[in-house]
This record gives sequence, structure tokens and C-alpha cells, in this order.
Amino acid sequence: MVNIAIAKGRLEKDIFEFLNKAGYRIQNNKDSRKLFIEDEERKIKCFLVKPMDVPIYVSNNIADVGICGTDSIVESEVNILQPLKLPFGKSRMVLAGFKNWQLKRQPIVVATKFPITAKRYFESHGLEAKIIKLNGSVELAPIVGLADVIVDIVETGTTLKENGLVILDEIYKISAMLVLNEIAYRTKRIEITEFLDSLRGITK
Ligand code: PRP
Repeated sequence: MVNIAIAKGRLEKDIFEFLNKAGYRIQNNKDSRKLFIEDEERKIKCFLVKPMDVPIYVSNNIADVGICGTDSIVESEVNILQPLKLPFGKSRMVLAGFKNWQLKRQPIVVATKFPITAKRYFESHGLEAKIIKLNGSVELAPIVGLADVIVDIVETGTTLKENGLVILDEIYKISAMLVLNEIAYRTKRIEITEFLDSLRGITK
């Protein structure tokens, strides 16, 4: 049995479609609150977890593999393998704010759901930042005066646009990624290789 941690939310539909395309028979029932799903015949068990928790389940060797966005991997700061980039979940991590925003004072006040990313970004630019960790609706922060700028994900750009904000800088590109626990790979090599190969077959 290969245990897979799957990111709920934004990527969930694409992940299930992708696994179905690879021949696994697992259905994502939106009305159900069940947090694990199994394909007994092809021997996979999926755990449905918050995106940021996928690397935690994998690094603790509860899940052998995981599927989440690269943003969740950066934020988790754990040591896991990333053997396969997946062909969906494309978005960008950006610095955003008002169009003519200029650096006038330090520390810059930054609102974000991604404090590790934000810290690294400002440090790499030699800038002092006060990071305010939020859990959502981050675009509101500059509008109401909680922050000067935000570090957040942009996919279609609609949320920024509708809130009168623009991209000031791109920090990194995001994609869905398959992550892997190194110990699990050693102890369950045959099963995991078979699973990876079945996915590789449809990423080409
Ligand atoms: C994410 C992200 C942006 C938005 C970007 O939030 O943090 O707010 O999506 O998407 P867009 O460019 O397609 O508009 P999410 O939908 O996860 O909701 P949240 O604000 O509750 O975190």
C-alpha cells in the first residue's frame, strides 16, 4: 500500500483527475467529510490534508508520498525529496501592493500566509520587514492599512485586480509537485517506483 497525502482545496480536483487518469479508482465525494480514501485493488490510500500539512505527513513518514504546491514545500522547511513536477497547479508567489508603492520606511510591513517565503525574500534584498501572518483574505491588508504590501499567490490575478492591487515583483513560480519520503523510498521501493512510473507515464 502506498500512502499519499493529498492537498485539499485549490489543487484537489486536479489531483483526483490526475490520479484517475493514471488508472487509480478513487473518487472525491464533495459531500463527504471522510479524510481518507482507498483504491484497494491498486493499493493506494489517500489522506486529505491542508496543503501546508502535506510535507509534514511526508517528512514524518506517515504518508510515503504527497502531492501539493511548491509553495507548501518552501513554507514547511522540511527535508523531503521532490522527484516529479506535475503538469497542473501553475501559479506564482508574488510581492503585491498598490501600483505606485515606493519604499519609504523600514521595516516594511508585510501581510502574508507565507511568512518563511516573505522573510527569505526581504532578507535576500537586504530589507527589513515586519511580517504579519494572516490566514486568508490577505489582499485586504494594504487596503485597510494593516500592511504596506503583501506576499501571496496569484493564479488568475482576479483577486488582486478586484482589490485594486498589482504585482510588484515575482518571487517564484509555483507548480504541483510530487514529494517523497526518503526512508519510505528505501523500504517500499517497488511499490513506490510502480506508483511514480504510473504518474510519469501521463506527465510526458
Ligand atoms: C488564494 C491567494 C489569493 C487568491 C489568488 O487565496 O491567497 O488570495 O487565491 O487567486 P487569483 O489570482 O486566481 O484571484 P484562496 O483562494 O486560497 O483564499 P484565502 O484568501 O482564503 O486564502
